[in-house]
Amino acid sequence: MLSIKKQNGTATLNKPLDTVTFETPTVEDGTEMWKLVNNSTLDQNSVYKYILMCEFFADTCVVAKEGDKVVGFVTAFIPPEKQDVVFVWQIGVDSSQRGKGIASKILNELINRDACRDVRFLEATVTPSNKASQSLFKGLARHHDTDCQVYDFFSEDLFPSDEHEEERCFRIGPLK
Ligand SMILES: CC(C)(COP(=O)(O)OP(=O)(O)OC[C@H]1O[C@@H](n2cnc3c(N)ncnc32)[C@H](O)[C@@H]1OP(=O)(O)O)[C@@H](O)C(=O)NCCC(=O)NCCS
Repeated sequence: MLSIKKQNGTATLNKPLDTVTFETPTVEDGTEMWKLVNNSTLDQNSVYKYILMCEFFADTCVVAKEGDKVVGFVTAFIPPEKQDVVFVWQIGVDSSQRGKGIASKILNELINRDACRDVRFLEATVTPSNKASQSLFKGLARHHDTDCQVYDFFSEDLFPSDEHEEERCFRIGPLK
C-alpha cells in the first residue's frame, strides 16, 4: 500500500526527462556533487563529505545524471533516533537544468527507496530567502496530498558569520 501511494505521487510529478537517470551514487560521484555545490548558492563543504555520504549513506542519496554528467543530487540520512524521518542535508540541481522537475523526481526517488520503507516524514531546513527550495518542499507535500509544517529550527545566532540566515524546518508528511 505504501509504495503504491508513493508511486502515485511520483506519477503526478513526472514530466518527460527521458535523458536523465536517477541513481544511487558511488564514491566516484562525490567530486561531481561537490563541484555542483561549488557552482550554486548551497553551503560549501569539503569534497570529503560528499565521498563520505556516497560511501556510508548511498541508500539515502540520489544522483541525477545526463549521460555521465551529474545534473542534480540529494544527500540525506535517516537520523538514528528518528527512524520514521528522512532528513535532507542538501539538494541541488545544475543551474542549466532547473525548472524541469528534476529536484521533485530526486525527492520521489528518495522516498520510494527500500531504505525509506519505514519513513513517514521528509524533513529539510530552508532559509527564508530560498523561495525555489520552499516551493520544492511545499510542492512535494501538495503532490502527495499531505501536510508541510514549517517551524523554527537553527537560529541565525548558531552560525559564526552574520551572513547566514536562520534555517527553518520543513516537515512533510505523513507520507502514505
Ligand atoms: C531548489 C532547487 C533544488 C529546485 O530544483 P528544480 O529541479 O529546479 O525544481 P523542480 O523543477 O523540481 O521544481 C519543484 C517545484 O518548485 C518550483 N520552483 C522551482 N524553482 C523555483 C523558483 N526559482 N521560484 C519559485 N518556484 C520554483 C517549481 O515550480 C515546482 O513547483 P510545483 O511542484 O508546484 O510544480 C534548485 O533551484 C537549486 O538547486 N537551487 C540551489 C540550491 C538550493 O537552494 N538547494 C536547496 C537548499 S535547501
